[in-house]
Amino acid sequence: MIVCHCHYLTDRDIARAVDALSAETPQRRITPSLVYAKLGRSGGCGGCYPLAHRLIARHLAARTAERSAPQALPAE
Ligand code: FES
Repeated sequence: MIVCHCHYLTDRDIARAVDALSAETPQRRITPSLVYAKLGRSGGCGGCYPLAHRLIARHLAARTAERSAPQALPAE
């Protein structure tokens, strides 16, 4: 899904940048402008920021849920 029409960024681009930023600086608050800078973009109209913000929050929540899910036991 295209999220940002000014920079032609997709939800997958955003997820990839969020993963990279989370790995680099786990305690840092991840904002759309930080994500776009990570992807080498800046400026633009900002119209996509509300959607980008929701996608960032959703992706971070999914990663948190993955980390806290019980691990499967190895097959015997
Ligand atoms: S649509 Fe993303 S900056 Fe304009």
